[in-house]
Amino acid sequence: MKITVIGSGYVGTTTALVLSNLGHEVIGYDVDTLKVKMLNNGILPFREPGLDQLLQEKLKSGRIIFTSDSRFAITQSEILMISVGTPSTLSGNADLTYIQQVIEVIATHINEPKVVVTKSTVPIGTNRWMQQQLEARIDTNKYPIEVVSNPEFLREGSALHDSYHPSRTVIGGEVNSAIEKVKQLYSSLQTSYFICNYETAEMIKYASNGFLAVKISYINEIARLADVVGADIDGVAVGMGMDPRISPHHLHAGIGYGGSCFPKDVDELLYLATQKKINLRLLKQGKHINDSQIAWFVQKVESLLPLKGKRVLVLGVTFKEDTDDQRESPGIRLIEHLLDRGVDEIRVIDPTVTSLDQIRWSKDLLDREKKRVNIFTNEDEAATGVHAVVLTTTWPQFSTYPWQKWVGLTESPYLFDGRNFLNPQEMRRFGWHYVGIARGVT
Ligand SMILES: NC(=O)c1ccc[n+]([C@@H]2O[C@H](COP(=O)([O-])OP(=O)(O)OC[C@H]3O[C@@H](n4cnc5c(N)ncnc54)[C@H](O)[C@@H]3O)[C@@H](O)[C@H]2O)c1
Repeated sequence: MKITVIGSGYVGTTTALVLSNLGHEVIGYDVDTLKVKMLNNGILPFREPGLDQLLQEKLKSGRIIFTSDSRFAITQSEILMISVGTPSTLSGNADLTYIQQVIEVIATHINEPKVVVTKSTVPIGTNRWMQQQLEARIDTNKYPIEVVSNPEFLREGSALHDSYHPSRTVIGGEVNSAIEKVKQLYSSLQTSYFICNYETAEMIKYASNGFLAVKISYINEIARLADVVGADIDGVAVGMGMDPRISPHHLHAGIGYGGSCFPKDVDELLYLATQKKINLRLLKQGKHINDSQIAWFVQKVESLLPLKGKRVLVLGVTFKEDTDDQRESPGIRLIEHLLDRGVDEIRVIDPTVTSLDQIRWSKDLLDREKKRVNIFTNEDEAATGVHAVVLTTTWPQFSTYPWQKWVGLTESPYLFDGRNFLNPQEMRRFGWHYVGIARGVT
């Protein structure tokens, strides 16, 4: 089938390459000409394991091309798949500016019947609204157009695996022939389909992310209690997760969730609920716990090591490992908290960051605050003379850092593990004063 994927970000590029690999003819369309140029030259504009190799393979095979030419992008394919961003506005609702732009571009260039597939996460009611918007702009007797909701569930860092092995494929729509076309796209994948109306499909995506966010906040809140009563929260999570009704996923205590999806999708659900005068108390509390988790952790740090005037090494600024995505990153928020507490110097190591201007701050920082942050690429230089190391992201390479050697380089060997990633016994044997999140009585 001929498919144009509109938006070549994390989701769009992955989806375009996977569909191309499944045998379809794919055009990737993006308004960002620099991104398009990079992609056509075989350079992935972001980091995602395995995707750069697939990009090069598919470009060589000639089964994919990237373009910023909207006419070409819209006229060449019968399936138009939308994967543009839907970021939060300041009020918490999703900003549909990019979706609106795509509607205009489709209406301008439509040349044949089309199926429009929405992969972007859009508020409940959006797909129906998109159908109406398109019908209002297009002569649908000449060019019938059908919008189908097909929310995406991939995770950054394992995007390829998730695309080839979807937990489910949700398709929301009104017209069977359009739904069948979307099923055909994935006919060579093993997946279970759930077919429903627009609103149900949209709600499945938000309710899933809301549930996972609350699950993380649940274990983090239990961790606060476990911390004071001496229970090992990782053991608690393992024991809980052995119950198939609970499952072990998203039960890892830490400094909270971040990234481009959970915070924004929780905000959108809460916004919608407020509009509809429904009080989503559980979700609200889940968000509140997450928002306060870093302050709780920093307080724990400060109870052992007053932070004013100290030098602290922070490991990780991406919101998780194996991605360069810093959107809503807990590591960055933690750095901002440390600056507020008067830390003299913050040193940062992250495999995806080599200079300060690559850090995406979550709030406006004054220049003098930024001057207190330095990026290091040399591990030994970074550890020399620090009063504490704080781990915020579970990059695999952090587990093999020269921890034993580092102890001797520090000013004081405090190690605060915000992800319960390192082995406490081993770290203590090396001489670290290791503190994790509720790691039990040792
Ligand atoms: N990133 C994830 O892990 C993930 C997972 C599931 C769902 N989603 C959802 O998928 C959507 C995309 O997320 P993302 O992380 O890929 O975003 P992204 O910011 O990485 O990519 C969006 C792309 O859309 C392009 N774009 C903006 N306006 C455009 C227009 N008018 N025409 C063509 N291109 C345009 C941008 O230039 C950008 O390259 C969002 O709704 C998000 O919530 C994301």
